[in-house]
Parts: sequence; structure tokens; C-alpha cells
Amino acid sequence: MPTRIAVLASGSGSNLQALLGAADLGGEIVLVASDRHDAGALERAAAAGVETALVAFGDYRDRAAWDAALRERVAAARPDLVVLAGFMRILSADWPRAWPMLNTHPSLLPAFPGARAVEASLAHGVKVTGATVHFVVEEVDAGPIVAQEAVTVRPDDDAATLHERIKAVEHRLLPEAVRLFCAGRLELEGRHVRVRGAAPSHGARH
Ligand code: GRF
Repeated sequence: MPTRIAVLASGSGSNLQALLGAADLGGEIVLVASDRHDAGALERAAAAGVETALVAFGDYRDRAAWDAALRERVAAARPDLVVLAGFMRILSADWPRAWPMLNTHPSLLPAFPGARAVEASLAHGVKVTGATVHFVVEEVDAGPIVAQEAVTVRPDDDAATLHERIKAVEHRLLPEAVRLFCAGRLELEGRHVRVRGAAPSHGARH
């Protein structure tokens, strides 16, 4: 049976699109949920014939009520994996207890966690940044790292140009991480994620 995947997204949904277009994902996207009615991700999901759910933050009396409503909606889809693909609100600790979760983040974690990571990286003056896909734990952007790739900052970059190049990397890393998860090849050892069956790197010593 293919892995059932629920995707949460707040933004344009280009990462969702990368998942929808990925060949041999080994899983089926059974739900795309958003906190924003104007999320492009909802349109993309609908265009692909995937079930959507809008659980708007403003429709609930407080964060706990919103979190519980969204959790209930996701639980109804019976996912084996929840993917955060540009989901911009913090979820309660109940989430990673209920499901394995992957998140994509536009920096080389642990540098620049949180929202506006691209702006923060530029403001700090880093010469290299990148993308990180990691398992979600209670602490924001702190979970075990599945994949990372560097992106060089150009002297004339602004947040938009740099973010575009980072997203191009995310569009490869996120589907690859999901594919490995669906194939049962991701193994957690504390903070370390081992990829089962991966060829040893060239520098490996025995
Ligand atoms: C991605 O860079 C993600 O890492 C960040 O927000 C962006 C979402 O882009 N948190 P999109 O909505 O997938 O186009």
C-alpha cells in the first residue's frame, strides 16, 4: 500500500508542486491543508485532483482550538507521513507525537531557524546558505536532518533572488526525502538520520 501523505502549506505551493510532480514518490498525497484561504497550494492541489482543507487561523478562538481543528482534519485523512511544505505557523507538540513529519527550511540549519530565514541570512552577510529537509520535533526547525544542500550567496542577491535559488534546491531535496521515507529507508539514531542502502561516501574509511 502506498504511504498516505498529508501536506500542509501556507504559501504559493511550489514545493507541493514538486511533490505532486515527482515520479516514483512511493506515496500518495491524500490531503493538502492550509491555514490561509489565499494559499496557492490549495489551488495547485485542487488542480491536481487532491482533496483540500482550509483551516483558517482567524476562524478559531485561540491557537489551541485552531491546532486541534487542523489536527482532527489531518487525522481524518489517516496519513502515514505529514509534510510541512512552507507551512508558516507553529504547531503544538501533539503533531510530531502523532505522525512522522518532514519539514523543508530555506537555510542550512541550525543557522537561521524560524520565519524569514532568507532575510536573516542576507542581513547577517553569510556567503553560503542553502536548504534543509528535517524531521519535525517539538522545537522549531531543530529536528534530525535528512538532507541539506548549499547555495552560494551572490553579491547582488536580494531576498527574492536568493530564495528562488534555494527553492530550486528544495524542489529536489524534499521529494527525494519523501521518496526515501516512503521506501522505508530513513533510519533515526538519535539526532542522526541514516539512509539505508546508501552508497558510502568517497571519503569513507573502513
Ligand atoms: C519554502 O522556501 C519553505 O522552505 C519556506 O517557505 C517557502 C515556501 O515556498 N518555509 P512554496 O510555497 O513551496 O513555494
